[in-house]
Amino acid sequence: MTELVSVMIESKNPGLVKTLEKIVAGVQGFRLMRENGHSKVDLLIYDIGADITKDLEQVQMLMNMGMTGAVFLTSENSDPSVLMQAIRIGAKEFISQPVNPDELRQALGRMRKQLDTDPARRPGEVFTFMGCKGGVGTTTVAVNLAVALQQRHAGAVALVDMNLLFGEIPLFLNFKPQHTWAEIAKNITRLDDAFLNDVLFEHSTGIHVLPSPSMFNNSDVSSPQLFMRILSHMRQMFDYIIIDGGNSLSDMSLKTLEVSNRVFLVSLLSLPCLSNTGKLLRSFETWGYPPRDCTDIIINRHIKDSEISIQDAEKSINKKIFWKIPNDYASTMSAINQGIPLSEVGLQSPVTRSFCDFAGELAPGGFTHKKTEKEFFKKLWLLKPMFGGV
Ligand SMILES: Nc1ncnc2c1ncn2[C@@H]1O[C@H](COP(=O)(O)OP(=O)(O)OP(=O)(O)O)[C@@H](O)[C@H]1O
Ligand SMILES: [Mg+2]
Repeated sequence: MTELVSVMIESKNPGLVKTLEKIVAGVQGFRLMRENGHSKVDLLIYDIGADITKDLEQVQMLMNMGMTGAVFLTSENSDPSVLMQAIRIGAKEFISQPVNPDELRQALGRMRKQLDTDPARRPGEVFTFMGCKGGVGTTTVAVNLAVALQQRHAGAVALVDMNLLFGEIPLFLNFKPQHTWAEIAKNITRLDDAFLNDVLFEHSTGIHVLPSPSMFNNSDVSSPQLFMRILSHMRQMFDYIIIDGGNSLSDMSLKTLEVSNRVFLVSLLSLPCLSNTGKLLRSFETWGYPPRDCTDIIINRHIKDSEISIQDAEKSINKKIFWKIPNDYASTMSAINQGIPLSEVGLQSPVTRSFCDFAGELAPGGFTHKKTEKEFFKKLWLLKPMFGGV
């Protein structure tokens, strides 16, 4: 069996919440999330109240934002028109009220079975990297971690450039974006896997890149709503979505932080950077997102005998450092100037190994493959020359 399925129950009726919680708690493979807030869940059980349209809009919004993988709707009103609307927004099950425990247990069982036989149905994880300051290496970290994740598992990894002003990922990976966010916005109604596959750039390492809206001088189309729809789709197509969030706190960045599974703050062992890191952590606490246990600190350009030690840093920000990336200016600059990932500059350098280990930490196993068989065979074909054209 794969991981536990996290479940959130949303209802204004405390009696119903109690009943639903009791049923879910009695079914193996599920974990109840009682704390409301900004954490993402695999399943939302939502009780539709008197204002059906408003409630369904709310559910649709949560789905678009990627806050939930699947939705079970429940209502006192089992009118066919309500059922039709539930189907239309993509609810997985409709549980009529009063709730029949067996009906809900069976629905949960069906979902569990589906996840066990097809783990690709679990939505991909969104990891956002945010710099505590400009120039700390956020893009270097996001690009090379995405490549390391892809190389480690040969699975589906996407890289998204959220720098609204100066998106640099196309330079880091030496390509010219072919499509614009304006095209995506215009074609929003046909935002499906095939269209997105077309819009995303497939790099030779296998990662798929969504370049920044700034590349197209058309940032007015890059609304948080549009991006949330794109992200929600991408979560169905990719196992990991790595976002280079730059260091801005625009509306779009805030929304992204809110829906990320994990947020990594990229910092340096310097006073200004650590001070900013502390400020950001305190802001997150005030906003209520991202949750503290989903936020991790990365120290980039780490040197062993630095004036400020890791312990000093942890004390000053009151949080453990999650990862250290060694200082290697020559390799990182060489990679940037050639437009290639660090792994192509040198596989054995400590900085490249650090990214491989980091990827291993984030994806220790159980990687699912959301790509099609066609692409698998395409990869085999590309490997052919390595085996002497066999
Ligand atoms: N681990 C490292 N060791 C040494 N130098 C590094 C390391 N990581 C990044 N750099 C250097 O830091 C500089 C900035 O890197 P990068 O562009 O990735 O930072 P950034 O935070 O994305 O910058 P910006 O705020 O402009 O988007 C580059 O010259 C890069 O070579
Ligand atoms: Mg950058």
